[in-house]
Parts: sequence; C-alpha cells; structure tokens
Amino acid sequence: MARKDLLDIASLSRVEIDHLLHQAVPFKELFTRSVKKVPALKGKSVLTLFYEPSTRTHSSFEVAAKRLSADVTHFDVGQSSITKGESVRETVETLEAMRTDFIIVRHSKSGLPAMIASLTKASVINAGDGAHAHPTQALLDAFTIMEKFPEPAGKRVLIIGDILHSRVARSTSLILKKLGIEVAYLAPGSLLPKLGAEGIHRFTDYAKAMAWLPDIVYLLRVQMERQDAQFFPSLREYHRLYGITDERLQEISKRGLYLMHPGPVNRGVELCDAVMEYERSLINDQVENGIAVRMAVLYWLKPEANHGV
Ligand code: CP
Repeated sequence: MARKDLLDIASLSRVEIDHLLHQAVPFKELFTRSVKKVPALKGKSVLTLFYEPSTRTHSSFEVAAKRLSADVTHFDVGQSSITKGESVRETVETLEAMRTDFIIVRHSKSGLPAMIASLTKASVINAGDGAHAHPTQALLDAFTIMEKFPEPAGKRVLIIGDILHSRVARSTSLILKKLGIEVAYLAPGSLLPKLGAEGIHRFTDYAKAMAWLPDIVYLLRVQMERQDAQFFPSLREYHRLYGITDERLQEISKRGLYLMHPGPVNRGVELCDAVMEYERSLINDQVENGIAVRMAVLYWLKPEANHGV
C-alpha cells in the first residue's frame, strides 16, 4: 500500500519493512557503477528542513535524492525567518506554496514531523524527532544486519548506552523485534527506560550482558545535549563501565562479534580508537547503506504513488 509519509517504525508492517529492505538492494548495486544515478525522481523537489545538527542523515538524504535525480534544496533554518519568530506552521505554509514534493524534517520536539505532515500535501520523512523516532536509521541498521545475517530471526543485538534519550534505540529495537531479532539494553540504571521496552532484556552490568551472548554489539552516542541531569558520575567512569575499551575489544574480536554505532562517535566515551580499525566494525557500512535505504524510502513515497489518490 502506498503511503504519503514515513514518520516512525511502529506504524510500518512487516510487509512494508521487507519491501523497503528489498528495494534498497538494487539501489546499493548502483553505487558500484560509473554512473550512480537513475531518473526515478526527475522533476521532483526535495527540501531538507533540519532544526537540529546532522552530518550523516542530512548528507545521506541529499545524496540519495540526487542519485534519484530529484532537485534538492536545503532550507537553512539558521538564516531563515524562523530566527525572527516565524512559526513552524508559517514555514510549512510557505513550503506548501512552493509545491515541494518531499520535506525531510529533523527537530528536537517529538511529534513535530507528524504535525508538519498533517499541514502539507508533500511527503514528510522524519529524520529524527526528539527522543521519539528515527525511522531511516532503523531501516539502515536492519539492512546492515541482514547483509551479515540474511536470516536474522533469533540473532541477538545488545544495544549499549543512553537508551533513555535515544530515538535510535527506540526505532532500531522496534524494527529488529519486527524482524524476529532478540534485543537487549545495557546502560546505567538511570539511562534505562522504565516503560516501552517490553520483550527487551535489560542489563546494568557489562559482564552479565555479554554472558547473554550477543551476535552484534550496538553502541549509542552519549547525548549530553538531551540530558538535563547528571545520569552518571563522569565520562571517564562511563567509558570504564560501559565503553568498548581496548581490553573489551580484544574479547569482542575473539568472539567474532560485529560492532555498530549510528554516529556521531564520541571517541574515548562509547568506544576506544581501535574500534575504528576493527575488521568487524559495520560503522562505515551503516553510512553507505543509509544512502541506499533512503533512496528506497524516497522511491516508495514518490508523489505519483500517493498524491493522485
Ligand atoms: N545517525 C545520525 O542520525 O547521525 P547525524 O546526527 O549525523 O545525522
């Protein structure tokens, strides 16, 4: 079934997830060709509206849209009339008048992309809203895992870090569970959510979490900007208790586990420098796969498929 928007993982069916992951495969194959472009979205306009900083997601959407031959405009929030008090509603009305086909939104407020979607005929893609959802990150994580484990049901993913404030943890654990993958969280008790983690194992001790025998260790960024209180004594202490130290990396390597991280990485906090050279690190795969998955999402939501009905 065609959709207008992609706002979260919760509302995606297994069939829709499988379709998107399947569709990303030929798009990734394009990257090895000398011409990496297809005309699928020729004449369509994509607008990126990022109220929060982003390196990966923003550039990945831009590359994805350009590889589909869409025209991409970056709405510079810092230089716009938003700084003079223009509301989100007024901004969206302006964009609506420009007949933009896609609006890709990141905002610190949970639910804001859904509000924008209700105000516009354009397809809205949530590029991360507060601690709520980051659906394309979840899709690219699932795609990356399935490249290593094509039959992923029953595999185990241990997510370590600031679960409480993480839209990545929320969306990625949801998609993994929909694919039949077992998920566990490891974090200081203060950073483990009390609710909303049904069916997810919860650990506060690194050794106990590793005894659960994960296949993949997924590290989250410690999001100091979302923490309004002191959730652990210091970053040094966090690294000692929950970070991938050189010693832990040796054990992970011996066991042949894969390592993932959505970025941006805080070196010396979530992980030691040596992780970046680890042969089973999938961090660069995640970045590359992000483009293919976002091409699949844009193609799936393409205007002909929804605005005509
Ligand atoms: N993974 C992710 O959302 O990274 P950015 O904040 O750089 O977009």
